[in-house]
Amino acid sequence: MGADPVKYQLDESQIPTAWVNLLPDLPGEPLPPLNPQTGDPAGPPDLTPIFPMGLIEQEVSAEPEIPIPEEVRDIYRLWRPTPLIRARRLERELDTPAHIYFKYEGTSPAGSHKPNTAVAQAYFNREEGVRKLVTETGAGQWGSALALATRLFGMECEVFMVGVSYDQKPYRRAMIETWGGTVHRSPSDLTEAGRSQAEHASGSLGIAISEAVEVAAGSEDTNYSLGSVLNHVCLHQTVIGQECIEQMGLAGESPHVVIGCVGGGSNFAGIAYPFLRQRLREGTQTRFIAAEPAACPTLTRGRYAYDFGDTVGMTPLMPMYTLGHDFVPPPVHAGGLRYHGDAPSLSALVKEGLVEAKAIAQTAAFEAAVRFARCEGIIPGPEPAHAIRAVFDEAEAAKQAGEERVILFNLSGHGHFDMSAYTAYFAGELEDLEMPDEELAAALESLPEAPALA
Ligand SMILES: Cc1ncc(COP(=O)(O)O)c(C=O)c1O
Repeated sequence: MGADPVKYQLDESQIPTAWVNLLPDLPGEPLPPLNPQTGDPAGPPDLTPIFPMGLIEQEVSAEPEIPIPEEVRDIYRLWRPTPLIRARRLERELDTPAHIYFKYEGTSPAGSHKPNTAVAQAYFNREEGVRKLVTETGAGQWGSALALATRLFGMECEVFMVGVSYDQKPYRRAMIETWGGTVHRSPSDLTEAGRSQAEHASGSLGIAISEAVEVAAGSEDTNYSLGSVLNHVCLHQTVIGQECIEQMGLAGESPHVVIGCVGGGSNFAGIAYPFLRQRLREGTQTRFIAAEPAACPTLTRGRYAYDFGDTVGMTPLMPMYTLGHDFVPPPVHAGGLRYHGDAPSLSALVKEGLVEAKAIAQTAAFEAAVRFARCEGIIPGPEPAHAIRAVFDEAEAAKQAGEERVILFNLSGHGHFDMSAYTAYFAGELEDLEMPDEELAAALESLPEAPALA
């Protein structure tokens, strides 16, 4: 047996004690969200009907670090710290001089990074007497994570699940129900928003968000919970990158490039922001690559503009790369990446050139995921499969340059409930759906009236 280590593990006592807030380090003044009626910056009164004050404060906080409550850290101990793994077999398979490391977030009970924020959000809501959380879910990862987290805090959970995923992923539904949550197929006839979108039967994250926000806004003891995009969600995920910094230290290396897939930006932020802070403060030269699906190319082909976070137009306007809030992405298998917008913080970093964005076709993603699984064993979720494709490209570039580059990526979840997508891939049934220019232009016509962004 070779003596070279494969896993870099931390002790439970090394679970981070604070989340990293990148906002104060971002270049330039942060652009505020806007109230769509008045055009003024959206303040706490715009958000209190659906979010607790504890999370609203985090959303706008200028503190570089936010302490993690002990009760949250205690639940994190169920699966954190997650392992950092050196993909030595993959390196040999790719015949690359690159050193490839991945952080594996699939060890959480729900199988992805999503519980990192679900637990934190449930905690801050429970602290303010909220009894129930309502949310949307794409592939079901987020809905199941929130069902778990609310259960651990003795709360209720109601989930609007994007129609196409509801049909494709019955076991995710069963997970939500096992943890005590209720699931509806979206668009549903339970809300105004759902009824107004009935013709989009396959659904979208934007529609499901509208439904969940409507239910939360209409009930006193019920709040809404979002699994990505917002500052506080990206913040909670930074336990990932902080652990990575310690673990890369154990390996005696630091990454030349950090890679993550992007749906709304939270797992990418989680792994990247602690390293980005080092780059912004200490001038490290680390590169950052955000991998998104070519069928929903928000960062690579979207417009940097103020837009709604949901389809029907109920949320504040957010400054972000967007494909237009009523863009309904094609039903690609990486359900968690089908979102029209992106986190404002990540959008700003892409705009500044600090993060590179890359669009990946789904068959190329699955090809890479299968090759990865055959070396490293873990079957990746379709979402991180996009990151793996980008890793392959970087490993090839290192080979061409003859350089021993260090590549770190976030394996944000396993694909055990996504095997129908693998079956479709093996049957040659996966299509590479590129968004035609005319469709993009039409989708962008729906952008609301708002100040233009430079
Ligand atoms: C495993 C996994 N990775 C990535 C994502 C994309 O979301 P985000 O960009 O917020 O990390 C999802 C979303 O559901 C997911 O389930």
